[in-house]
Amino acid sequence: MEKEGTTYRALVARELENGDFVREIKALTLADLPDDEVLIKVHYSSLNYKDALSASGNRGVTRRYPHVPGIDAVGVVVSSPSASFRPGDRVIASGFDLGMNHGGGFAEYLTAPKEWLVPLPEEMRFEECMSWGTAGFTAAQCVAKLLENGALPQKGKILVTGASGGVGSVAVAILAKLGFEVTAVTGKDAGKFLLGLGASEILNREEFVQENNKLLLKEKWAGAVDTVGGKYLETVIKGSCYGSTVTCCGNAASADLQLTVYPFILRAVSLTGIDSAKCPVPVRTELWKKMAGEWALDQLADLATVITLDELDKKIGEMLAAKVKGRVVVKMV
Ligand SMILES: NC(=O)c1ccc[n+]([C@@H]2O[C@H](COP(=O)([O-])OP(=O)(O)OC[C@H]3O[C@@H](n4cnc5c(N)ncnc54)[C@H](OP(=O)(O)O)[C@@H]3O)[C@@H](O)[C@H]2O)c1
Repeated sequence: MEKEGTTYRALVARELENGDFVREIKALTLADLPDDEVLIKVHYSSLNYKDALSASGNRGVTRRYPHVPGIDAVGVVVSSPSASFRPGDRVIASGFDLGMNHGGGFAEYLTAPKEWLVPLPEEMRFEECMSWGTAGFTAAQCVAKLLENGALPQKGKILVTGASGGVGSVAVAILAKLGFEVTAVTGKDAGKFLLGLGASEILNREEFVQENNKLLLKEKWAGAVDTVGGKYLETVIKGSCYGSTVTCCGNAASADLQLTVYPFILRAVSLTGIDSAKCPVPVRTELWKKMAGEWALDQLADLATVITLDELDKKIGEMLAAKVKGRVVVKMV
């Protein structure tokens, strides 16, 4: 492929002199991308919460601007310095520093070190892959951890917070598929959406935290996927059943956690952290295969909104205002 002079479109976030951040679609030059990484023609990317932070100038996520966000993408290898990937291979690029301090997936082309790539499972379509995206992959990690720690449908209800968001909605759908009774906590008018994904009970998030002033609450949850942190996670842990596991992957509400040790020493509750970015490639590859196979979701199409690169700026604003339901997929070709 002729790289010299070839341009491609990308969403670029940059800082203005007054310290504000703007996002624009720009034509970038392919020749400026590093030669020692795998060059990928992006077919789809997706919008994750971290992208919204990166795209709006959050230096905890992205230190240097101008920057192309996008922590995940799926596409086809154009050229590769490594024998592990050959032109024409279908690959998923996600995690590590992609879209954070390395140019990301909100572009028609990206490069990435081969260590950040996994093969796209044969049975998975490009759009399906990014309907899961990093949020869905993280939801799958949370569910895998609950199962590893002994969660079973007959043991009781599983609670999901931030349930209408990317991670939450996919977690609801996987758990329902596996036969769990799922209680979804949401701040939106998302009952119909969540029941459609398989939730059996919907709780309003402000009502959910009303009883939070006690050290322990009635044992209700046989497991939980928390995506929001703060007082919501506190309430989840205090109301978790003896021997259950709570996975913690996000802080959409708050990074704080104010608790006593009682849920842990009197009820043997386990609080388990989940990280997708540095998840080792062999684990990543196996989980993607499971998502393409036995955990494949019929509801993915209902769960995802497909947009173009030109529509992304607006969606980023909506995500920061917690107005997005489900997943947002960005179609590049
Ligand atoms: N550990 C990892 O590797 C990893 C990977 C992916 C994501 N994450 C993190 O997981 C979290 C969720 O990500 P996402 O992609 O699902 O984001 P998202 O699509 O924006 O969903 C977040 C959801 O959280 C709820 N929420 C938002 N603001 C809130 C607030 N102030 N108080 C209470 N609830 C609030 C909303 O759901 P409701 O309206 O339904 O309540 C919102 O839809 C983020 O913190 C993200 O950074 C971590």
